[in-house]
This record gives sequence, structure tokens and C-alpha cells, in this order.
Amino acid sequence: PTEQRVKDLMSRMTLEEKVAQMCQYVGISHMIGAQQALTLQELETSDASGFYPGYTVERIREMTRKGLIGSFLHVVTAEEANYLQQLARQSRLKIPLFIAIDAMHGNGLYRGATVYPTPIGQAATFSPSLIERMSRQTAVELRACGVQWAFAPNVEIARDPRWGRVGETFGEDPYLSGCMGSATVRGLQTSKLQGQDKVLACMKHFVGGSLTTNGINGSPADMSERMLREVFLPPFIKCIDAGVMSLMPSHNDLSGIPCHGNRWLLNDLLRKELGFKGIIVSDWLDVERMSTLHTVVPTKEEAYLMGQAAGIDVHMHGPGFGECIIRAVEEGKINPKNIDDRVAEILKLKFDLGLFEQPFVDIKAIPKAVLTAEHRQTALDMARRSIVLLKNENQMLPLRRGRFSRIFITGHNADNQSTLGDWSFEQPEENVITVLEGIKAQEPDAQIDYLDVGRNVRSLTKPQIEEAVKRAKASELAILVVGENSMRYHWKEKTCGENSDRYELSLPGMQQQLVEAVVATGVPTIVILVNGRPLSTEWIANNVPAIVEAWEPGLLGGQALAEILYGKVSPSAKLPITIPRNAGQIGCYYNHKKSAYRFPYATGTTAPLYAFGYGLSYTTFRYSRPRLSTSAISVGDSARVSVDVTNTGTIDAEEVVQLYVRDDYSSATRPVKELKGFERIALKAGETKTVTFLITPESLSYYDAAMKYGVEPGTFTLMVGSSSRKEDLQSLRLTVGTNATVASSAQ
Ligand code: IFM
Repeated sequence: PTEQRVKDLMSRMTLEEKVAQMCQYVGISHMIGAQQALTLQELETSDASGFYPGYTVERIREMTRKGLIGSFLHVVTAEEANYLQQLARQSRLKIPLFIAIDAMHGNGLYRGATVYPTPIGQAATFSPSLIERMSRQTAVELRACGVQWAFAPNVEIARDPRWGRVGETFGEDPYLSGCMGSATVRGLQTSKLQGQDKVLACMKHFVGGSLTTNGINGSPADMSERMLREVFLPPFIKCIDAGVMSLMPSHNDLSGIPCHGNRWLLNDLLRKELGFKGIIVSDWLDVERMSTLHTVVPTKEEAYLMGQAAGIDVHMHGPGFGECIIRAVEEGKINPKNIDDRVAEILKLKFDLGLFEQPFVDIKAIPKAVLTAEHRQTALDMARRSIVLLKNENQMLPLRRGRFSRIFITGHNADNQSTLGDWSFEQPEENVITVLEGIKAQEPDAQIDYLDVGRNVRSLTKPQIEEAVKRAKASELAILVVGENSMRYHWKEKTCGENSDRYELSLPGMQQQLVEAVVATGVPTIVILVNGRPLSTEWIANNVPAIVEAWEPGLLGGQALAEILYGKVSPSAKLPITIPRNAGQIGCYYNHKKSAYRFPYATGTTAPLYAFGYGLSYTTFRYSRPRLSTSAISVGDSARVSVDVTNTGTIDAEEVVQLYVRDDYSSATRPVKELKGFERIALKAGETKTVTFLITPESLSYYDAAMKYGVEPGTFTLMVGSSSRKEDLQSLRLTVGTNATVASSAQ
């Protein structure tokens, strides 16, 4: 059994070899700043003395050969993964390396991978089964390329769209994020994290990294224990239930204590209370930051000790940590048993993942595993279900093929790879279908006039806008593909993604002026938004007849989008995050609490631009009056609510049926509604299906005034419908009481 193998191995390991398992370095190509795959010769000979001060690449190679490094991250080719494993093979005990990468929507940092829609678009599908399928395929692609550890999912709750990493999350809702995060874990790890096609998942960032000051990445997060437990913990708990075996703390300090040194957070809460059994990997330089940024200790050495004592098992980025931990054990400052316990856990994972049996990958087999027809189909299926139709005045969409003989298309995101989103390299051109290419394929006979205004969303000029106006006037239809750019390696151009936080939510650069100028020509105009975070485009919402939110739809996003424009597919995605009217409205999420005067989510100008759960279709759906299996239950019991949904239009389509719950009276204040169930259904024209949601004690529980978790007797309003908007929901009342109260209310 694995435990015995771990024990046996550990009995032969020196302290240095054990601590090495806790140390992770970046791959060689990353170290030397190479964007292209290195040859074996380059891997063997290249050097960079500056990346890790005092540590040349040769020194790192030598450490690997001696078994003094346990894992690498950002190794972007299978050749390099094999090369590093072969160095590790030369070590005394031949312990294989863990190779880790950020793979949130496919293995995008590998050239040639299947790149799926980014997580915000994944969430818009409201389809955990699709996310699980994608994650399973991602695991297969990762393993084929020599990677066994994915830094995904990101289950932070995105309530501040100024934060650049919103696109990496599943949006603003704890229930939805939990469903999507746990589906990711199931897909990557499956129910048994064993074998050569499984990948270790890593839930992140723990916790509050999305609720930092002004939306700035890594700034302080201050939150009450109530908010922590009600809003931020639930998705992490769902991932733990799904068996996630690694976690990454967040950069920020949480209510004054840096997460990386927070023993209460990482040990008492995460391990002891929530039952997390996996390993904790620090984020890039965040242990060091406890001394250099948070200044809770004066030296890096003290920061390393603090991180280790708090629960960090693997230090992400480079030297310092390992040396310090070895010294501390030798000086008696750390009990060696603590190190043994954690190292045993890391080694067990390596055994379980079959790394000792086979650390290498067969380069020739990669094409059979990566970007297969099946994986491309999933990327397409997902993109089709992730694109949200926000506005469709007078049924301007779908477009009828041949209706417009001359179509003008422009915009920064029309014909490039910005549709891939963060954590992706540019992919081989032939693998990607851009929006322009997608439209051309749908409209082969029309004359398409494309104006290339460059990829940089901040670079638009007045002459370009004048040119666009001229060419729009000569056309019958204008399609403007605007938005943001999150692509990691478009360093100078990106406006979104990690560390690209903003203070406003408008379209960057002069894109707004472009839209206004084209609309002013009177030519019918469609706006397509390609972006990772919500954009407040109120003018567009008021003046453009058709608006599509594409998010970052991945490799085949252009095809999916064009299929939606031309009605081959009816749009069915729903917003996983509120789109505010303007940046001043930030803090408007649908599951808010009540306020004395204006609700942040009311009607008129205090309403958001588009609500959570909202998204149009080309058909119409009729919802029957929902029915409850019983009007009253006892505390601890469950009830069922059912609704019949009919496709009353003439085309087949899918719909996401949603269930929200409100606790009418409670000892502590509660949100006006909370998502507690959803189901995506496919309905042929004229077809009716019944959707039944189970209302469990969990759907009704919360932390009462004494912070005790459970169901408080009383009445609950259940709301069923097609979005979180009041006008899209029908409500009914469920009484929950002690047996006596239930009996009397049932009479
Ligand atoms: O996994 C990421 C993390 O989310 C942000 N900092 C860098 C890590 C490794 O790439």
C-alpha cells in the first residue's frame, strides 16, 4: 500500500531531501524568459544568473540532479517536463517531480492545447456537467504534456468587478461557484485521485482575495466572520466535499493577518473545522511578502518560519524557504515530525498519481490526447452555452443569412486571440476561430468589409473612427467587437486579468466613441463584448439594438458566437455576475441585504444594468405556477418545488431554470434572495418539461444571531424563474417549524 511505500522511502531520506519536496521553482524556459519552446540543447546549456539571485540555471539543474527540488511550475512543454524529470531521475532516490501549471480553462500555457471559455463564461453555462467534462479533458491534456498539478479552480466570490481576476472566477454567487468549483475538482481529480490520467486540483485563493481594497489585487481584505462564513467559505467547502487535495492561500491580509501566515485560517478553520486533508502551496512570493509588504516580521527567514508554522507545505517560488526550514529543524526550532508528516502527504500524492511508475511522457502520443475532436467539441459546446444575449430589440437577432449583402465589421477583438483570455499563450492560428472568421463562415456570400484597428484596446484613434464611420455608411449592417484584453503575454496591452485592476468599468480607450459614431450613422449595429469582467456600457444598453456578452469564449468562440448571431444556436447563457450601471454602483450584487431607502438592486436608475441570472433566448418560455410538495415541514426535513417549463416559440432551445430562497424573518439579517438551485434544460419547440428542486435543510440554513449554523423556524419565500429579477420570478411560501407549529399551519 502507498502508506508503506511512503514510509519506506522516507526512512531513507535525509532532512535535505525531505525539505526539497516542499520547494517549488519555475521551469527553465520561464527562468530565462523564453516564450518559445526550448530545444534539449538549450535546456541543458542555457543560463540566467539573475532570475533567482545567486542561483544560476546550472545550479538549479544541479539541485534537481541531487534531489534537492521537489517540484516546478510553469513548465510549458512536454520536452521540458521530461528533461526535468530526467534530471530528478539522476538523484540518489530518484523521486519524481511534481509539475504544476495554471490551467483554469484548458492547458492554455501549452501551445496546441484545447482552450475552453474562461471560468466566468463557464459559470454562465450554469452547467456543472459541462465544466466537469472540460476539466476531465484538461486533466488528460495536462498529463499528456507532463503536468500533474493544476492551480484551479479559483472559487473566490467576485463582488468587485474592478478586480482584474474576475474572469478567472465563477462570478458573484457562493452556490453557483461551489457547484462549478466542485465540478472542476471532480473533473481533474475524479472521485479517486489515482492513476496516470488524474491531476491534482488546487482551490484558491484562500481567502478574500476578491474583496480587497478598491479591487486591487493583493490589497487588504477586511471582512466579518459572518461574511466569511456566509459568502466566501461555501464554495471552498463544496470543493473539500469533492475531495480537493491542494489549496493556495491569497496574497492579501485578512482582517489584519496575512493569509500565508494565518494559523487560525489554514489550520484551525481549514483543516480542523472544514476537514481539508490536502497540501497547501504558497502563492508567488507571498511568504516573503509577510516581511517585505505586510511587515508582520522583519526578516524573510522569520516569514518562512511563520508560513511553515501556519501550514504552508510547499513554497511556490524559488530558494530561501528550504534552507531556512532545514536550519530551523537542525536548531530545534521546528519539530522534525511536523516536516515528516507534511512531506509524507506530498509523497503520497506523487505515488497516487503514478509518478514513481512513470514520470515521463511519450511526446509522440501527445497529438492523440491533445486538441482531439472530442475536446474541440466540448470547447464549442461550452462556448455556445456561455455567450449571453443581453439585448435584442425588435428581434434584430438572429440574422438571416443573405439578408445583408454588405456587412461592416471592426473592433479590437474581432480578429485576434483576445477571445482566449488569461492564462493562455497565443495558440497556433489554425486552431483558433476568431469572431471575424466565424461570421465569414456563416455568411459566405455577403461582402464583409473588415477594418483592422489593431489589438490594443487602448489604441483607437480619431482617424480610425472616421474611417469606420465612412465604411459603416457604405454597409447595411455594422458589427462592433469591442471589450478588453486579458491575454497574459500581451503584457503591455492587457487591461484585465491578474494585476490588471481598473478604477472604472467603461470600455478602455476610445471604443465608446467608436460605437457612438457608428450608431450615429443610422446603420443597424450589433455590439459584441469580449471581456473578462463586467463592463458598464449604459449608453450602449440604451442605444444599440442588439448586444451580446461573449466573455472570453476560447478557441472556438468565434464559431459559437457566429452560430448564435445567425440562429444556428439559440443563446441560453445567464449572467453569473451583475453588470453594474457604472463603477459608482459597485457593491450591487443580487444577494444583497435590505437597505432602509434605495435598494442597490431596485428598479429605475438604482437597478443594475443587467441582473444576475439574466440572459435572453430566441424563443419564449412559459413557466407554470410552481408547486410545493408540502406547504410546511419540520426543521431538518426537505421539500420539493416543481415547475413546468414550456418552450412556446418555434425553435428548439435551452433554458436555465433558477430557484432562489429568502428567509422571511430571521434573528440575523439575511439577503433578499439567494440562489439555491438551478437546472439547464433542453426544450424542443412546443415541448414542456417539469423541473423539480429539492429544498434541503442546507438550502434553508444560515448563521443565526449567535453564529450558530442551522435552520431557524419560520416562513421562507421560494422564488422560481428565469433570472434573479423580480419580474422573472414567481414565489411561494414554505413554513418551517417545530412539529407543533407545522401541524397547526398545515391545518
Ligand atoms: O496560481 C497562480 C496564482 O493564482 C497567482 N500567482 C501565481 C500563481 C502561479 O502562476
